[in-house]
Amino acid sequence: MKWLLLYSLPLALSSPINGDRELVFVQALWRHGQRAGNGADHLHDKHLFKYGMGELTEAGIDHTYNLGRWLRKRYVDEKQFLSSVMNPKELYIESVDVSRCLMCAQAVGQGMYNAEGRNPPLPVAVHSRPKKMDWMLSTFWANCPATGREITKICPDFPDITTLTNYNDYTAETFRCTNASQHATYFNTTEKHLLIDALIALEQAGAKLPHWYTHELRREAKEVFDKNARFQLGIGEFHNDNILRYTTGLLMDTLQNQMAHKWACTQGTANNCRDIRPIKFRAYSTQDWILNSLLESLGRGTRVVALDGHGAPQFNALVLIELWNIRGSPYVKLRYRPDAHTEAATVLTPNVRGCWHQYCSLDVFGSCCNNTTSNPQEACR
Ligand SMILES: *[C@@H]1O[C@H](CO)[C@@H](O)[C@H](O)[C@H]1NC(C)=O
Ligand SMILES: *[C@@H]1O[C@H](CO)[C@@H](O)[C@H](O)[C@H]1NC(C)=O
Ligand SMILES: *[C@@H]1O[C@H](CO)[C@@H](O)[C@H](O)[C@H]1NC(C)=O
Ligand SMILES: *[C@@H]1O[C@H](CO)[C@@H](O)[C@H](O)[C@H]1NC(C)=O
Repeated sequence: MKWLLLYSLPLALSSPINGDRELVFVQALWRHGQRAGNGADHLHDKHLFKYGMGELTEAGIDHTYNLGRWLRKRYVDEKQFLSSVMNPKELYIESVDVSRCLMCAQAVGQGMYNAEGRNPPLPVAVHSRPKKMDWMLSTFWANCPATGREITKICPDFPDITTLTNYNDYTAETFRCTNASQHATYFNTTEKHLLIDALIALEQAGAKLPHWYTHELRREAKEVFDKNARFQLGIGEFHNDNILRYTTGLLMDTLQNQMAHKWACTQGTANNCRDIRPIKFRAYSTQDWILNSLLESLGRGTRVVALDGHGAPQFNALVLIELWNIRGSPYVKLRYRPDAHTEAATVLTPNVRGCWHQYCSLDVFGSCCNNTTSNPQEACR
């Protein structure tokens, strides 16, 4: 009992009572909803995946709309933080230039603001830029030759990365580097490896699976696939701060800067506040690999705890970074909602490097990830 009291004391201190705290700013990042697989045309279920390869399914669209309703419940109904009727100036929704993510940005916005059932639903402003110019949500091997230098450190015979012109060629090489073929019983060649994305999509959509794709092979497919992703992203056993600086260095920088700037503007200690002053909710509609890298960057435990055994963030996984004013000081709270069906969003702040409690002071949170913050446009050269 004594121990319990002692133990709970710092937690109690770190969880101030309502009224002492005010939500100031929310940054939300989500993965798109359920999608069809890429490649492997013969495994493409044209009925289930009616919008084509790599695109959302009907269920994926519905789940994403529900993610918007979940956000409304939290930030409009419960916290009365956002206006009930959409105020476009409060929102800034950005999407990577990938159709499924752009569609999800729309669907989330409609889920948040179609409480009155307007038909057709209210359009939502979504900001985006061409992939080639998007160093925040779309820096990958193809526009970042420096990735090749990092890979060569652990896979010396990796080819000159600038000669690899499409993702399948790149993936074939990284697959080889992971030595997956030495351990796999079935998925031990490039051709077979390239089927996995389509097979996983079939399984996730609840489709009929090929008879040969047994329970054991499903496990093997995921192992091989996830290992290759960890290799490409420089996460997990392949943790590499430099690769993280390329993939999510600017996103991390932006998330941190937005909070610092927003806070300074609420305190009247900054200039150039005109754009950010009205914004309360800034969102990023994105992909699993961005969230995976971002979670890894926050501290190694953060990714592992968030994913809870999964290799990558699931469809509609949601990261929330909330900025709070607690008795006049800025604090950050990090939450993770694993998918579109789980009601609760777990508090992950204590897993962030340097943070120990549910609320982490903005200074400490702002120092969590200096090693993986960068401007990839320069770092990638
Ligand atoms: C793959 O095998 C080679 C040769 O045995 C070894 O040098 C390399 O470290 C292995 N790579 C990985 C990612 O385990
Ligand atoms: C892959 O595994 C099969 C058995 O499923 C084996 O016959 C084949 O030689 C292996 N291929 C490679 C490249 O290791
Ligand atoms: C991390 O970077 C921020 C912003 O540049 C700086 O204020 C802070 O002191 C740095 N923290 C560490 C631990 O180097
Ligand atoms: C950041 O990088 C420096 C220099 O490489 C290293 O000494 C330090 O341990 C790193 N910090 C973290 C938290 O990884």
